Amino acid sequence: MTGVTLAGAIAGAAYIVAALLFIMSLAGLSRQERARGGVLYGIVGMIVALAATVWLMLEDAWGQPTAVLGLTLLIVAMIIGAAIGLWRAATVKMTGMPELIALFHSFVGLAAVLVGWNGALYTEGIAPDLLGVHHAEVFIGVFIGAVTFTGSIVAYLKLSAKISSRPLMLPGKNVLNVGALVVFVALTVWYVITPELWLLVVVTALALALGWHLVASIGGGDMPVVISMLNSYSGWAAAAAGFLLNNDLLIVTGALVGSSGAYLSYIMCKAMNRSFISVIAGGFGIEAPRADGDEPVGEHHETDAAAVARLLEAASTVVITPGYGMAVAQAQHGVADLARHLRERGIEVRFGIHPVAGRLPGHMNVLLAEAKVPYDIVLEMDEINDDFAHTDVVLVIGANDTVNPAAAEDPGSPIAGMPVLRVWEAAHVVVFKRSMASGYAGVANPLFYRDNAQMLFGDAKERVEDILRAL
Ligand code: TAP
Repeated sequence: MTGVTLAGAIAGAAYIVAALLFIMSLAGLSRQERARGGVLYGIVGMIVALAATVWLMLEDAWGQPTAVLGLTLLIVAMIIGAAIGLWRAATVKMTGMPELIALFHSFVGLAAVLVGWNGALYTEGIAPDLLGVHHAEVFIGVFIGAVTFTGSIVAYLKLSAKISSRPLMLPGKNVLNVGALVVFVALTVWYVITPELWLLVVVTALALALGWHLVASIGGGDMPVVISMLNSYSGWAAAAAGFLLNNDLLIVTGALVGSSGAYLSYIMCKAMNRSFISVIAGGFGIEAPRADGDEPVGEHHETDAAAVARLLEAASTVVITPGYGMAVAQAQHGVADLARHLRERGIEVRFGIHPVAGRLPGHMNVLLAEAKVPYDIVLEMDEINDDFAHTDVVLVIGANDTVNPAAAEDPGSPIAGMPVLRVWEAAHVVVFKRSMASGYAGVANPLFYRDNAQMLFGDAKERVEDILRAL
């Protein structure tokens, strides 16, 4: 950044405004009621940031023969990027968001690798006594970027079910991960002393392999943590690119994304009773899960919409626990109507939300807010878990792993230790789903075979509408 000319000073001020808007955006997004405002601050911040960057580029390039070409390329890239972004945002289904986010993270990683390589190839203008620092920045930026790139691609493949969500258990996987880190540190020192290009090739290949292995080694149940962890890595990759490009805003924004993503990963690990270190180290210390699959573990009881309507009419307390299937069926509006209807009859209705229900942090909260369910009847898992024992009917709408008793009762289960909604403690549990298939983690669910549980098969939206008609 020039910083000395008037144009540079204005752009610098615009960067500060953009950084503040990003901070306000994060603050807004932390509460559902203010989330729309948060998104708006983010959009305005990004427009200010882009305008200031173009302004700076123009200022730097003005009068040079390549200025027009550079500006043309920039405008074409922005139009293509914006068109693709708008098209994907308009067409992506809510259930496809995690895959899309994983792909976005991979782009940030790839961009950091390319910026790093560019920084390695063009070093003119850098003061000789700062070259060592520059080389370290290049190496670290390429490393974080490449880990983020392949890690995010594996996350994308797992989330879109293009590869199995089961963890890859290579022999000596922890030694491989730790070994890769040690080699990276040694290569960084070597590169700072003698910046030979083959070292950069080696570290790029090493980081690509490490990113792939780290995420492939993590099981389906831990994918929420992996997504927020990759979010964090993409932030650090952007910050590393900011150092190389000498762009203050990219450093600040990258650090914001990196630290908030790391904190979110930490909160999620706590919520899911997982070790943060273990997950970021590619499942360090986690044993290979038993091959559980979908095998039945007893007799299940089937019910129909009319019987569920009668059960609800006789109830005085009802808890609804939605999961990924509600998002797939887009049943939230019907579920909200059902809740409204029951409350009008004087029945107490509340929602119990598991921290990783669905496929995104806050996925269920967003859907219920969209369907205008009042916030005060939407409770977190910890707020509602002790109430199930005093609940007449629980409606499990397309949830599976998040209500699986095996997590609490079977120490050999791949999801053992993950806190779940203890729906089975209620007098009656009705499970809305289309088959007896297992959930995202691929673990059989003994809830379906409990005496107090009844299966209501079919698409959740259709079944909820059937119940509304029968009431
Ligand atoms: P899941 O365990 O994914 O189970 C969802 C259930 O919904 C499935 O068993 C499926 O059964 C049913 N379903 C699908 N479509 C349906 C439809 N149209 N109508 C009715 N039911 C339908 O859901 P969950 O309890 O929400 O758990 C979330 C899982 O995803 C956890 O393992 C979590 O770790 C993981 N995960 C979460 C996130 C975040 S951040 N939330 C991110 C990545 C992964 P049928 O096929 O038989 O219908």
